[in-house]
Amino acid sequence: MTVTIALGLQWGDEGKGKMVDYLSENADLVIRAAGGANAGHTIVNNDKKYILHHLPSGLIHARAQAYLASGMVIDPFSLLKEIQDIEKQGLGDLRNRIKISPAAHLILPWHRDLEKIREKSPGAIGTTLKGIGPAYESRASRKGLPLGLLKYPDLLKQKLISISQDFAPFFEKAGVSVDSANQVHARLLRVAREIVPMLGDLQPLLDKYLQKDNSEIILEGAQGALLDINHGTYPYVTSSSTISGGLLSGTGLGPLQIDEAVGIMKAYTTRVGNGPFPTEIHGETGHKMAKIGGEFGATTGRPRRCGWLDLVALKHAVNLTGVRDLVITKIDVLSVFEKIKVCTAYNLPSGKNSRFFPEDPWILEKCSPIYKTFPSWNISGNLEVDNIDPALQAFIKMIEEYVGARVSFLSWGPQRHKTLRV
Ligand code: IMP
Repeated sequence: MTVTIALGLQWGDEGKGKMVDYLSENADLVIRAAGGANAGHTIVNNDKKYILHHLPSGLIHARAQAYLASGMVIDPFSLLKEIQDIEKQGLGDLRNRIKISPAAHLILPWHRDLEKIREKSPGAIGTTLKGIGPAYESRASRKGLPLGLLKYPDLLKQKLISISQDFAPFFEKAGVSVDSANQVHARLLRVAREIVPMLGDLQPLLDKYLQKDNSEIILEGAQGALLDINHGTYPYVTSSSTISGGLLSGTGLGPLQIDEAVGIMKAYTTRVGNGPFPTEIHGETGHKMAKIGGEFGATTGRPRRCGWLDLVALKHAVNLTGVRDLVITKIDVLSVFEKIKVCTAYNLPSGKNSRFFPEDPWILEKCSPIYKTFPSWNISGNLEVDNIDPALQAFIKMIEEYVGARVSFLSWGPQRHKTLRV
């Protein structure tokens, strides 16, 4: 039995969908631990493109059992649509391969309404508007609604009335009219018929696979380490923990049950939404990178901010997540540039240079990157272990030495075959 954590090391959009799909080829159980439909994981297989938001990427392999763990916040309406859309793409009836924790929390329509109002106000985070933050707030205030409530219509109604009374003053003040508790209750009961049969506990599944010889379990991260609620660029973060510890907490697995941890990184850096981004490239080069890299959000369609690889931030993420193996994605995008830059230190507001990512967000905002410039590489035809351009080999070696983890995979396109184990 092998349990592998696979997660993103930057601000999300590192190509996790493709890589988790690749790593899940023999997986028995694939688990999403945290977040919700803020994720947008793209998988291309046999010329079909799948975009998953709640569902783990490993599900595209026909044998994998998928689990949506208790750390998640789930919008039941959009989850059902996601399942239907994927089923229509020819994957057959998925529902016997999907189990959802009854302890994961519901994202209610009011969570999304609330977020829309807040995000129009000063101090907006640039969220995905999926109701993630407000749903986690309800959960932390012990007013949230676990999905298991869908089995108990009367109790569900009581809880909806109670939480709607908490929200009412906010909506009144904003002058926004929203659905009543009765309306939300009726809508939820309609989807409950389809969701309830998929509810089930994780422990029996874990018992089954942890004891089976040669079984493989993948814990799939969402977003990226730098968006972690505790360790990311607060307040410009998501509302869950996106590092390895968050995946353990979201599923209830213990640290000694993990065999491998793989960190996925792009050869450059992107970010959607607001917040500090020391290596951001403004102007023409940034636009060129976004265009060549197809840097538009899979969830929101928003253009992503682009920048050079930031080794200071990457090393921080490697330390936070404890990954030993790295996957570098989108190496083809940098091959278009003649010269590339890599940030190897920050110049701090104090005037000193540092190789450490500052925990103080106000210091981070004022850091400027110190770059080294390198020649780019050629990627022509199929990349093989013995034909890696020396410039790319030097780039790999520099990353390995700086962050103290080994580069194990390279990826140069969305298709499964554009992946090389090195
Ligand atoms: P939220 O998760 O929707 O609350 O958004 C909080 C921040 O995280 C915003 O900057 C989002 O753009 C960012 N974010 C959330 N999910 C993703 C993702 O899957 N990829 C990239 N950025 C994300």
